[in-house]
Amino acid sequence: PPPPLPLARGRRRRGRAGRRGISGGTGGGGVDPAAVPGHSGRGTRTGDAMGQTVLLTGGAGYIGSHTFVALRAAGHDAVILDNFSNARGDVPDRLEVITGAPVRVYRGDVRDAALLARIFAENAIGAAIHFAALKAAGESVEKPLDYIDVNLGGLTALLKAMREAGCFRLVFSSSATVYGTPEVLPVPETAPRGYANPYGFTKLACEQILEQVGASDPRWAIATLRYFNPVGAHASALIGEDPQDFPNNLVPFVAEVALGKRAALNVFGDDWPTRDGTGVRDYIHVEDLARGHVMSLGHLIATGQSHTVNLGTGRGYSVLEMLAAYSRAVGRELPHVVAPRRAGDVAEVVADPSKAAALLGFRAEKGVDEMCASSWAFVSRRRNG
Ligand code: NAD
Ligand code: WQD
Repeated sequence: PPPPLPLARGRRRRGRAGRRGISGGTGGGGVDPAAVPGHSGRGTRTGDAMGQTVLLTGGAGYIGSHTFVALRAAGHDAVILDNFSNARGDVPDRLEVITGAPVRVYRGDVRDAALLARIFAENAIGAAIHFAALKAAGESVEKPLDYIDVNLGGLTALLKAMREAGCFRLVFSSSATVYGTPEVLPVPETAPRGYANPYGFTKLACEQILEQVGASDPRWAIATLRYFNPVGAHASALIGEDPQDFPNNLVPFVAEVALGKRAALNVFGDDWPTRDGTGVRDYIHVEDLARGHVMSLGHLIATGQSHTVNLGTGRGYSVLEMLAAYSRAVGRELPHVVAPRRAGDVAEVVADPSKAAALLGFRAEKGVDEMCASSWAFVSRRRNG
């Protein structure tokens, strides 16, 4: 397990956070925790023993929930702040089944300064991982002010609360979207940054805010993680990508075809300059992505070194290749139709993952078949409630 985090200033009182005790041995979902694949194997909260707690804003969301599991498995204690605007209310119950331990959740808005102050007062927060944001590129074009308010306002409120509490370790969820249309492939972290929509603007602006804050005070240790295309679900099939409204990304759309909710996948263009004419992206299993967060946090703890790294595989797959992989997972060919290109799309975006490997020792391990099989297992189970 990672070395203990020095305790942040602030009283250590058992929080009044909502506790979601596991009901008996068969917690939410009627499953025996120990029988759950990917179960952390720890029935107790070992993080307390190390006197460290990690605050996950947006921790009930897709990537945050998987990172919560990875943190617990690595021996960290963690607490979640989420307003559940894009997460099902039963995610904490599912996390309790996977981890075999109670999950502390504060339900509220990351922009709420009083709530943040309470969280830091009630928990010895040694680091924060900031997932909470609005993330739909298309929606951001219609609602730029909402995206600026949540994504920039949320980060600012968190940074102020951290500074007040004497907590200076932050992992930030950035995105390959800050590369705009990359001129060099695979994309290194040194590539020029830009944005193609208000969402991308907010991610770039957040990175620049963090650069300014980090330069202002040497106590800050900030990790900026640029995710490429996270897909897949936890081995337990209890948590996964579960958009609460209209899906925005490829795999949730393919999943809807597989479930019979959608007749066919619309392939946005088959005339791109790629090997089969369809868009190529760097898909990374969400469990690999979560593990990357634990390794990045470990680097902050061990060295205090701020860092910006790509989290991707370095391997690109086309839309048709992903559709074929999902078809293999489902066991039948999933139909598609060729549709016009989507506004703002680019032909190919693939990460150069070498810096994360050199700095953190992080390498993605899971392939597209495992990504699709885990996604299908999750959506199949969710269909059954
Ligand atoms: P998600 O929507 O599943 O998770 C975000 C969580 O934050 C949700 O649980 C939501 O309820 C919560 N949230 C939103 N606004 C909030 C607010 N004001 N206060 C408190 N909680 C709030 O999204 P995700 O895919 O898990 O993404 C997590 C982070 O990673 C985001 O910052 C996103 O921009 C970034 N990211 C995602 C992807 C991707 O493809 N999923 C790629 C790159 C970067
Ligand atoms: C992948 C490929 C589409 C849907 C987006 C955001 C980015 C980040 C990750 C947050 C593309 C094609 C898709 C469909 C299709 N999110 N496609 N039919 O566009 O790489 O990135 O999610 O940070 O900011 O922009 O991911 O999953 O939307 O698309 O043909 O119904 O699938 O054209 O080539 P994208 P995506």
